[in-house]
Amino acid sequence: MSRIFSGVQPTGNLHLGNYLGAIRNWVRLQNEYECIFCVVDMHAITVWQDPAALTQATREVTASFIAAGIDPEKQVLFNQSAVAGHAQLAWVFNCVARIGWLNRMTQFKEKAGKNRENASVGLYAYPNLMAADILLYKATHVPVGEDQKQHLELARDIAQKFNTDFGREVFPQPEPLIFGAGTRVMSLRDGTAKMSKSAESDYSRINMTDDADTIAQKIRKAKTDPEPLPTDADGFEGRAEARNLVNIYAALRDVSFSEAVAEVGGKPFSEFKGILTDVAVDVLGPINAEMKRLLAAPAEIDAILARGAERARAIAQPVIDEVYDTVGFLRP
Ligand code: TYM
Repeated sequence: MSRIFSGVQPTGNLHLGNYLGAIRNWVRLQNEYECIFCVVDMHAITVWQDPAALTQATREVTASFIAAGIDPEKQVLFNQSAVAGHAQLAWVFNCVARIGWLNRMTQFKEKAGKNRENASVGLYAYPNLMAADILLYKATHVPVGEDQKQHLELARDIAQKFNTDFGREVFPQPEPLIFGAGTRVMSLRDGTAKMSKSAESDYSRINMTDDADTIAQKIRKAKTDPEPLPTDADGFEGRAEARNLVNIYAALRDVSFSEAVAEVGGKPFSEFKGILTDVAVDVLGPINAEMKRLLAAPAEIDAILARGAERARAIAQPVIDEVYDTVGFLRP
């Protein structure tokens, strides 16, 4: 049986990378797979979150999933902290994963920065919780952006070590699903840095909540170089910003990079930026409007999450029981 699990952190500033790298692919996959989509609020608190802002961001991310086209009636949509099994399994995995494995995680190094001693223990153990998210549902496929690849590999290692340690095939090996032109959307200010929620400058990203004027302004100010766009796909060497903008165009238009180059190659940035703005507004405008509509009725969003959590618990509990029995925890 195939089952999908994926999640997004409610840390504010949901951006085009989250949409093109993950959420849009989920919408497509929901017709082929049984899907579980999660707002991973427990991951969010690995770095400080203002409590009221966390609550609001949880509703916002939920609204973005639905506005993008996830059907909450068909798929399971919930927030992580509402299902205790995530924390329960994460603890078991804390005892399965090795410190050496976590020491290799590049995202921890990036997020903790220079002052590593001061990072939260949660930030360090984050990949174990992520493995628990996936394996709590015995998910077989995990659609994510490129940046989550290493965490997925760790989840596979944890699954394998658990099975080997206890001599039972409890967990499947989850496969990453990383596809499309949007798997690595870069910053609008620096074509070599990932577009991220936490980057200081709001001009580095297009947020899913940005209106048409803001999108136009951000694209107008996006870093470029003086030359027109190359006319073939091999001509982007050393032109990271040009590559990124054409890649974003390709992802938004849902064509390959080469097809995008065939469409816009040779154009000066002034003209291309206008075209890119129109495409971005076309794609994000309706999502943005639907998000606003949904967020006007927070009680309905909460009700959707409550129903989703109930369904998630029903899938997770037998897995927790199986894990506890396997480990030897007495369940009186
Ligand atoms: P998060 O919240 O940082 O990002 C959510 C999704 O968006 C993708 N993404 C990008 N894709 C392309 N270009 C970008 N610039 C970009 N930035 C982000 C991410 O790859 C991700 O798919 N650890 C995860 C959340 C998580 C999770 C899980 C995912 C927790 N448990 C279990 C899958 C399965 C994270 O921080 O994603």
